[in-house]
Amino acid sequence: MYHKFLDKFPPQFLWGAASAAYQCEGAAAEDGKGPSVWDAFCRIPGKTRNGTTGDTAVDFYHRFEEDIALMKEMGLKAFRFSVSWSRVFPEGEGNINRKGLEFYDHLIDRLLENGIEPMVTLYHWDLPLALQEKYGGWLSRKTADAFVPYAGFLFARWRGKVRWWITFNEQNVFTGLGYRFAAHPPGEKDFRHMMQANHIVNLANARTVRLAHQMDPTFRIGPSFGYGPSYPLNADPGNVLAALNADAFNNDWWLDVYVKGRYPRFVLKHLERLGLAPDIREEDYAILEGARPDFLGMNYYHGGTVQANVFENPQLSKQKTLDTTDPYQMQADMEESPEKVMFETARNPYLESTEWGWEIDPKGFRVALRKMYDRYELPIIVTENGIGTMDVLENGKIHDTQRIEYLRQHLLEMRKAITDGVEVIGYCAWSFTDLLSWLNGYRKRYGFVYVDRDEQDGGTLNRYRKDSFHWYADVIRSNGNSILPERTIDELTEQEWKQVCQK
Ligand code: BG6
Repeated sequence: MYHKFLDKFPPQFLWGAASAAYQCEGAAAEDGKGPSVWDAFCRIPGKTRNGTTGDTAVDFYHRFEEDIALMKEMGLKAFRFSVSWSRVFPEGEGNINRKGLEFYDHLIDRLLENGIEPMVTLYHWDLPLALQEKYGGWLSRKTADAFVPYAGFLFARWRGKVRWWITFNEQNVFTGLGYRFAAHPPGEKDFRHMMQANHIVNLANARTVRLAHQMDPTFRIGPSFGYGPSYPLNADPGNVLAALNADAFNNDWWLDVYVKGRYPRFVLKHLERLGLAPDIREEDYAILEGARPDFLGMNYYHGGTVQANVFENPQLSKQKTLDTTDPYQMQADMEESPEKVMFETARNPYLESTEWGWEIDPKGFRVALRKMYDRYELPIIVTENGIGTMDVLENGKIHDTQRIEYLRQHLLEMRKAITDGVEVIGYCAWSFTDLLSWLNGYRKRYGFVYVDRDEQDGGTLNRYRKDSFHWYADVIRSNGNSILPERTIDELTEQEWKQVCQK
């Protein structure tokens, strides 16, 4: 759809940036904080790049006031951060760590004093280690029983101060990488466990959303989902069907549960046939159906391209050394990878990738926003979007032109999606300062603010404004009017630029 004129962003649009406790706080064992699963996992040789840890991270725990001053200077309207569960409840339940709690009290107060809306993520992957050891983590309903009162405690504590709450960050990613691919804690390779843990997180999510609404009807709460839309490789109907399958398997499987309170039919039936469906108790349905988020958080980095599965795709069957006639082998394959009969991934010939192989696809962002809104009709907050690059500090400056161009293109597509009719109410770039990339160490940088540190905890930890810092400040000042389709900001005359800022 071509629009000659783009809609303006709503006046109260939440221009923000995001972070997560483990990736930025540091102070991993300070002031009574209990260990999380990540504090243990990063110490297993070979799990993270060069053994990088979040022990110091970017020292947000001690430097948050300095960072908030930079946020204020930038004009940021919202800051999304996560609470480290084990900083508040060192064992996940029971004793409260006052000092840890007070850290977040101060953080929230400083944000509010500076006119920045706090957006609190309750869970960004750092499960208290005690709950992993005591109950087996998310495989046990007892972990959900510990999560809900933890959330309720924070609701009561920050009622009147915090309005925006995010339950779980990228449930699809942490259950998949943690229980299926062994790349995140608890380091398992078991599809059944992934499904079971995921179901228990779904229950925890629904119970928490319901509790939030009971405790304060002015709260706005929802999950942040790692959303990637699926493209068919081409117009071959088999590939079109594969893209439908991929969307159902990779997206609807989570989002339908959040919003509709039930698993999508095709995937559930497929998993039941294979004996891989989660153990759903009768009473679970009422829990899942009894909660509806107020918004959907979308983390968008890229989507994916697929083609017909290897069994129905003659070209692929020839290439693969797969015995499609042996039913026992097929069952074993399926138990590991049930999507094998649904779709096969493919390379998209139209897209370029970052240094880390992540496709750069701004139009896919508009596609994602359209699809998500179309299916669920809930307001969307973009809770993450950004690019990891190897930025270089030279004479106190960082010329991160690639980031500016990436964000400009994505914001333009978001503005087009808004003009199409999608209700987007906020956008949080990932991230405000540089921070730890879970598996890639510190050289994959995402921030508007450069932090001077290396992989080995060397460096001053001093902060430097990147070029993108000033650019995003202008975006916010003009309420996004500077995101224009016709010309880049650099091409505007001074007079035109002033007009944009006055709008
Ligand atoms: C999202 C996570 O998946 O992607 C963030 O919510 C993460 O925590 C971000 O940092 C970027 O991923 P990576 O692997 O490049 O750090």
